[in-house]
Amino acid sequence: MAKAKTTAFFCKECGYESAKWMGQCPACKEWNTFVEEPIVKKESSPSGKIRLTERRKPVALSEISIEEKDRVSTGYQELDRVLGGGVVGGSLVLVGGDPGIGKSTLLLQVCRNLAANGQKVLYISGEESLKQIKLRANRIGAVTGQLLFLCETSLETIQETIRETKPDVVIIDSIQTMFREEIASAPGSVSQVRESTNLLMQIAKGEGITIFIVGHVTKEGVVAGPRVLEHMVDTVLYFEGDRHASYRILRGVKNRFGSTNEIGVFEMREQGLVEVENPSEFMLEGRPEDASGAIVACAMEGTRPILLEVQALVAQTNLGIPRRTAAGTDYNRVNLLMAVLERRCHYEMGRYDAYVNIAGGMKMNEPALDLAIVMALVSSLKDRPVSPKTIVFGEVGLSGEVRAVSMAEQRVNEAIKLGFDTCILPQICLEKIKKNDKIRLIGVRSVREAIGIL
Ligand SMILES: Nc1ncnc2c1ncn2[C@@H]1O[C@H](COP(=O)(O)OP(=O)(O)OP(=O)(O)O)[C@@H](O)[C@H]1O
Ligand SMILES: [Mg+2]
Repeated sequence: MAKAKTTAFFCKECGYESAKWMGQCPACKEWNTFVEEPIVKKESSPSGKIRLTERRKPVALSEISIEEKDRVSTGYQELDRVLGGGVVGGSLVLVGGDPGIGKSTLLLQVCRNLAANGQKVLYISGEESLKQIKLRANRIGAVTGQLLFLCETSLETIQETIRETKPDVVIIDSIQTMFREEIASAPGSVSQVRESTNLLMQIAKGEGITIFIVGHVTKEGVVAGPRVLEHMVDTVLYFEGDRHASYRILRGVKNRFGSTNEIGVFEMREQGLVEVENPSEFMLEGRPEDASGAIVACAMEGTRPILLEVQALVAQTNLGIPRRTAAGTDYNRVNLLMAVLERRCHYEMGRYDAYVNIAGGMKMNEPALDLAIVMALVSSLKDRPVSPKTIVFGEVGLSGEVRAVSMAEQRVNEAIKLGFDTCILPQICLEKIKKNDKIRLIGVRSVREAIGIL
């Protein structure tokens, strides 16, 4: 008699189950994503036996009341904005990010603020001891109010504790360390992560508790575990930043209660994370003036303009094939822009190495940076500095034309706010902007025109 199968293969990306290993997942078409794991017994699945709440009746939409207090401020404007104006009661928020970026620090600080605001908070850590948390808490300053800590990895125990303590907010640090006893596979595996999140979702929705989940990210920078994880939760936030720079960016990639365009900027200091209210000022700090190859550009992060410095260094090449690098921006885009310079403006870029860098470690792929990159390259090539009070934005097309970008007015206003006196922008955008005597606006139609201004 054939033995009953106890394991199956699961897709790490979408959770698709298959009896045998496959190279490509038929559901999400990703390659090499199948891992072997014990099968989850059907009777233990959450839709089966476990029932957290009473059976409820359907209600009419008009009978549901929303109170303003359903949204609670986290005490950080930057985070509130990313969440769409504060945390919604009973929501499930997933916070992902690279190791050591400051996920635990951010959430501990949020806990402190919420507890000080009269909320009961339960912080559950599966990866750190109480002593380690205490050390971190000492770093971020005094804690008041009801803030409870628990070191636990079994979700069944956690569920009981939540029932007993009845907190308003729960932090799970991190989902990859949690496990459900009825599932045989190891913590962090596809089925564990999926089923654990499922249970947490039921707790959040059933009892109206806000739950923040910390998720580890994979090499590719997405939350480890199946993609379905992101579908289950209400909000997915990514905490990112440069290892060597002190600022951190919180980005919403999914939000059921607000826009996903917003970002929050924080700075990691000795005493924890501090909000950065004016990122442009922060990004332009310590900028060399009168250096060739450096230009300030304006990029948009959602509805927020951010000024940053684009640097280029062009040097005669010693090799047959010139070297090109792009840090903080798209490498292929830089190559494309150099080809435009070569063909449309007749610079022999093939004879030069070129290095392009977005200062401060920020990553930006917005096409509005094109014109600044082109001008920085030419400025470096000709060793002709651009006035430090000039800002540039515009998209460059393949025929060397400068195309319009969105939200030009906001970009110009940000430049005025930070004391810039000249702005080079696409001619089409110029026509739409109101005249302003605080800043000189120069509209350009082509790359050649823009270089002429240099
Ligand atoms: N005394 C300090 N001064 C400044 N920064 C510090 C100090 N102590 C820790 N940090 C910063 O805090 C970071 C660790 O933060 P945290 O533990 O919150 O990260 P995490 O994202 O939770 O990491 P993990 O993925 O390991 O859980 C360190 O990488 C470091 O940048
Ligand atoms: Mg941590």
